[in-house]
Amino acid sequence: MLDFVIFAVTFVVALLIAVIYLYPGSKRITTIPGPDPTTKEDGNLADIARAGSLHEYLIDLHKQYGDITAFWMGQEFVVSICSPELFKQHSAVFDRPVSLFKLFEPFLGEKSIQFANKGDGRSRRKQYDQVFNPSHLVQYYSGLQEVSDNLVKKWTSLPKDDHVALAQYMSALALKMALVSLFGSHAWSDEEILEIRHNYDIAWSELERRLVDFPEEGSPRIKAFENAHKRFHALVKKMVTNHRKLSKKSTEEGLFIDALLDSTEDEQVILSDACSYIVAGFHTTGNLLTWAVYFLATHEDVQDKVYKEIKKVLGGNDVEPSSLKDLVYLRQVIDETLRCAVIAPWAARYQDFDSELGGHKIPKNTPVIHALGVSLQNEKYFPLPNKFDPDRFSAENSKSRPSYSFQPFGFAGKRKCPADNFAYVEATITLVSILRKFKVKMVEGQVVTPTFGLVTHPTEEVWITLQKR
Ligand code: HEM
Repeated sequence: MLDFVIFAVTFVVALLIAVIYLYPGSKRITTIPGPDPTTKEDGNLADIARAGSLHEYLIDLHKQYGDITAFWMGQEFVVSICSPELFKQHSAVFDRPVSLFKLFEPFLGEKSIQFANKGDGRSRRKQYDQVFNPSHLVQYYSGLQEVSDNLVKKWTSLPKDDHVALAQYMSALALKMALVSLFGSHAWSDEEILEIRHNYDIAWSELERRLVDFPEEGSPRIKAFENAHKRFHALVKKMVTNHRKLSKKSTEEGLFIDALLDSTEDEQVILSDACSYIVAGFHTTGNLLTWAVYFLATHEDVQDKVYKEIKKVLGGNDVEPSSLKDLVYLRQVIDETLRCAVIAPWAARYQDFDSELGGHKIPKNTPVIHALGVSLQNEKYFPLPNKFDPDRFSAENSKSRPSYSFQPFGFAGKRKCPADNFAYVEATITLVSILRKFKVKMVEGQVVTPTFGLVTHPTEEVWITLQKR
């Protein structure tokens, strides 16, 4: 009998040790509800891969566990929040956890603003944000208009009923807009812009692939990434060197590159932040424009309504700072595109002291994800969330929602996207230029699906046709 008791006790203790060793989450370190890690090494990474992306995983998780949940990214315990109330509670937090964005460090550089926290991050943002102040945005209009006009000219020359590769065009246009606005209208040749784009495509798609499939040391994938990364950086470096040689009088005033060069002499910061603003500035807007044109092409009534508004508000004039705010319905279309397409699905913060959120203790240094995309699809504030309906953003309908329910550019600690207003200007000028010349239509037979990475893009090219007005 004693033998049996000793055996039973030993067995139970061994089992307990095994459970605690294999599943650290079963000894949950907070009261926040969420899944246990599937494996000790990888936590819930396999679950994330199975869901398709972090955004899709977060949708499932919040559905199951509520507005605050926690899971394991590898061995790191991570919290995620998605409600306006919890966003508000986190709205003063500035620092961003480096670990969640580590994957992108080889491309952006470890000194990128993306990874800068505390005083350094705050002072850099203060310096750079000046060039995106509302009063400063005025200077970008003519450059953006010129880029849009060139696109319309190109499209006008295409054969009737030609199939147009929408995402390719929008991404090229957004890159040109970002480069012209950040570095001046003559900083880049067309060939260099193409090269920047080509190398970005190779490098970024490789980094996103590494989320689920890491390449072997010395493999062709690693080599292709390194070559693309080197070439991208060499082109940006060349532009910085050329800009330094120009006298200030010969360039446009108050460019981002000037704010950057005035703020530091650290060459690595200069290169990393130049690269970071280019990347952050074009893949977001390129996809916003792609999705906006896609929604317009699939909602003829909305497209007609925007066209009528353009005619009424602008007549034949270009968009100007004074007329931008009168294009009320177009702004609703842009907002509904940001919401429906979930352009940037998540942001994140951390605090280096123990804190509390939603009545739960958050251990210091725990990354807290702001599940922006989950919140944009919240049925409570956006009934039938998959339906594209710009009327949700009419003044009347917006009144009934808390402001933290719609935060496509982030919200916390004065560190939201620095260029939200700039992105609206880019999108407005481009969509006005396109819609006043063309009716956009989908090429039939396509099933357009999103791929959610750090930014959401269509999984495959979106093909449209253009009908001249
Ligand atoms: C549709 C357009 C855009 C969307 C949806 C978007 C969204 C975002 C989001 C969600 C963040 C993270 C904010 C946070 O951590 O709270 C962010 C950061 C950032 N965005 Fe944007 N963005 C857009 C356009 C742009 C443009 C046009 C630029 C530059 C010209 C830009 C530059 C940046 C930079 C540099 C950061 C990092 C700032 C920092 O680390 O402090 N973005 N953006």
